[in-house]
Amino acid sequence: MSAATDIVLEAKGIMKSFPGVRALGGVSIRARRGRLVALLGENGAGKSTLMNILAGVFPPDEGTLHLDGHAVSFPNPSAAQAAGIGIVFQELNLIPHLSVAENIFLGREPHTRFGLIDYPRLNAAAAAVLKRLALAVEPTALIADLRVGQQQLVEIARAVSEEARVLILDEPTSSLSEHEVEVLFGVIAELKSRGVAMIYITHKFDELAHVCDDVTIMRDGCVVGESLYADLTRDKLVQLMAGRESKETFQKSPAALGDELLRAEAISLPGDGVGRPFLVENVSFTLRRGEVLGVFGLVGAGRTELLETLFGLHASRATGQFTLEGKPIEFASPAAAVAAGLALAPEDRKRDGLVLPMSVAANASLASLDRTLHAGFVSQAREAAYITPYIERFRVKTPSLDQLIVNLSGGNQQKVILAKWLATGPKILLLDEPTRGIDVNAKREIYAFIDELARNGLGLIVVSSELPEILALSDRVLVMCEGRQTAEFARADATPEKVLAAAFPTKTATAA
Ligand SMILES: Nc1ncnc2c1ncn2[C@@H]1O[C@H](COP(=O)(O)OP(=O)(O)OP(=O)(O)O)[C@@H](O)[C@H]1O
Ligand SMILES: [Mg+2]
Repeated sequence: MSAATDIVLEAKGIMKSFPGVRALGGVSIRARRGRLVALLGENGAGKSTLMNILAGVFPPDEGTLHLDGHAVSFPNPSAAQAAGIGIVFQELNLIPHLSVAENIFLGREPHTRFGLIDYPRLNAAAAAVLKRLALAVEPTALIADLRVGQQQLVEIARAVSEEARVLILDEPTSSLSEHEVEVLFGVIAELKSRGVAMIYITHKFDELAHVCDDVTIMRDGCVVGESLYADLTRDKLVQLMAGRESKETFQKSPAALGDELLRAEAISLPGDGVGRPFLVENVSFTLRRGEVLGVFGLVGAGRTELLETLFGLHASRATGQFTLEGKPIEFASPAAAVAAGLALAPEDRKRDGLVLPMSVAANASLASLDRTLHAGFVSQAREAAYITPYIERFRVKTPSLDQLIVNLSGGNQQKVILAKWLATGPKILLLDEPTRGIDVNAKREIYAFIDELARNGLGLIVVSSELPEILALSDRVLVMCEGRQTAEFARADATPEKVLAAAFPTKTATAA
């Protein structure tokens, strides 16, 4: 290990409690010059809380922070920023109706000598940072018009532009495409070589080999392990995180396929004139009862748009033919899709999935109101009885069902969303990136549940960018690339090599 003098930022004995929850019970962590420490742990372990304290979002109840060996305190985020601590938060923190450039330099805008914002300079500075991250968006574009992955890169651009000495990245890659992740890793390597100390939170272990020097593992608000990355095996890591032996990896049970539920023929969705002419182009597939159809593709391949089209979200522009249980049907609106027995758990949970100022119970039962109504009103008793099994099964970490969802950790919010959609009892369930931000053990629980739903006769369509997830879950895999369907594999034929080969654009396609 490096010498003590390499320690840039150190937290010692940090305690933090929220009403009903002890989030941190005396945690210490070090960020070293030119090194990256991965902070790992199950959902709700306290990782983001600790980072929020390092970044001045709120003070610790007890414990101290040290910068270059001197005790410091950060009464607010600007104080931490001024001291050279940069952070990319787990949840996006951008202002949707401001431009990319305005968001990157919010509060640090260059001014003209008349005291006005110097837009030419602002936009030029933003363009330089965007280039570093290979992000092809105009500095003047509005955040609201970007897709989630691009927004995540803008957040990263903002932190990188601060030239911080300590950079904290809390699940920075959750919405990034593989290529975007590679670019980010390049930037991380460059920052490390310039001596920046980094703390990196992730649930994707595969990323560690590319960026990680040291590992700190948390469980239930405490540090339970520290190691050089090179000295850890994956099994050891999972065991430390969970405090128990890791189970076998998940494999879907063989499907007992029933009748055809849904047939989609020649589904197309024209673009909005900016990018590709078609976001979805001539896609056809069938889905049977008891089947899980996995849709794999790189970010931007049109997978989300395909699900949205199925769910009636683009009814005015989409073309093609749907047949549900043998009858032609139009999904003219999401309401019509729901009435026909469809449910969609969307990708961007903050925007479409959760009502933040409501309780866990209310959020989880929002989509199954008919089952929790009593004489026309939501019965809290019914709500609780109905939703508790789901909350328990996914081990949602919350002091009670009355806790506001906004107070849950990111992964636990995601579990509540899934519970909410799984509880609707649809015929066809569409899941878009269902395990984003979910820890390794909870993932397996969710896979098992998807399997169970299929065995109960549901048809499921699962979109994921994680190939192992698609391969573990699906009876059939549909691969998309640049809006088109490039291959379809039965479970037995879906090897990683074949699926990946179909997901990448071929030379002729890109040259055209
Ligand atoms: N503002 C808050 N009010 C109440 N409880 C909170 C608040 N913020 C966090 N908590 C609780 O503190 C615990 C730790 O949460 P934290 O967000 O730090 O977990 P995490 O390790 O980042 O998890 P994830 O991997 O899901 O992001 C959780 O039980 C969470 O519900
Ligand atoms: Mg977190």
